[in-house]
Amino acid sequence: MSLFWRIFALNAVVLGTATALLLWAPVTVSVPVLLTEAVILVGGLVVMLVANAALLRLGLAPLDRLTKLMTTVDLLRPGQRLPASGGGEVAEVIRTFNAMLERLEHERATSSARALLAQEAERRRIAQELHDEVGQSMTAILLGLKRAADDAPAALREELHEAQEITRESLDEVRRLVRRLRPGVLDDLGLVSALTSLTEDFATHTGLRVSRRFDADLPALAPETELVLYRVAQESLTNVARHADAQRVTVALRHADDSVVLTVTDDGSGIKAPREGAGIRGMRERALLIGGSLEITPAAGTGTRVQLTASVPRKQP
Ligand SMILES: Nc1ncnc2c1ncn2[C@@H]1O[C@H](COP(=O)(O)OP(=O)(O)OP(=O)(O)O)[C@@H](O)[C@H]1O
Ligand SMILES: [Mg+2]
Repeated sequence: MSLFWRIFALNAVVLGTATALLLWAPVTVSVPVLLTEAVILVGGLVVMLVANAALLRLGLAPLDRLTKLMTTVDLLRPGQRLPASGGGEVAEVIRTFNAMLERLEHERATSSARALLAQEAERRRIAQELHDEVGQSMTAILLGLKRAADDAPAALREELHEAQEITRESLDEVRRLVRRLRPGVLDDLGLVSALTSLTEDFATHTGLRVSRRFDADLPALAPETELVLYRVAQESLTNVARHADAQRVTVALRHADDSVVLTVTDDGSGIKAPREGAGIRGMRERALLIGGSLEITPAAGTGTRVQLTASVPRKQP
């Protein structure tokens, strides 16, 4: 039923009932009005208004639901839809809104995929240049310093050794940077090795205890999926170091029927306010990129658990 007829029918029911009561119920209104009659009339009016309000609320409920969804909908949590049954403008508006969400979710997914791929390509390029240019020059400096130190008089040797040490540390820093920008091990040795080296680096740098639980029979994953799993683990660990105030972290990679599940669990203070910054939204975007889902929940006891479920296409028999 259209909104117009719905509201009209609601009012017709209320007014019709009132008129029928006036016509057939044994009531008379004197002039001037008597107190009992006035009480009955005012009572009747109140009943009519309440009934009208209740019926209107019922009739407009779908619009209320629509407004609520419009204000809260989040394109990073796709699939929120309203039921739209029957005909009439309201159902039509809801159906149009659902279709618009569908389109926006699709556009959001493709544009963020494009942005993320461009970002990865740029990181790759910077990593390559750091490795090939800066890394090579520093290695050359290191060798030059070593040769100079070998030939130098004892007074100078000490200083040259110091310079050598500083250069070596900087070179390590550049290598670490390159690894962070482009997890080369991911291409060469696969996800498990990349995550192992990520967690080892993390443990040495933060002093936190890190446990790894990787299933042995992990299926082969697409390169994008591996990169997304890696980046989500990376951001989750960074968040643990920055916000959690934790003692230990567990990074697990498990294999279910047709999905791979990454969980990063800490025993820290837990997420208090549901404020999602660029980090968490970035993880959600990456999850969408591979059709996966990301959940951030309190861990058993204290702390936080970040869980990414990525589906794995079934092997063709
Ligand atoms: N493991 C965690 N334990 C406790 N609080 C957390 C944890 N992870 C995230 N948070 C909270 O959630 C907020 C949002 O995290 P998010 O990664 O989106 O942003 P951020 O880390 O503050 O900034 P960035 O954009 O640089 O990542 C954090 O500011 C922090 O308060
Ligand atoms: Mg963060």
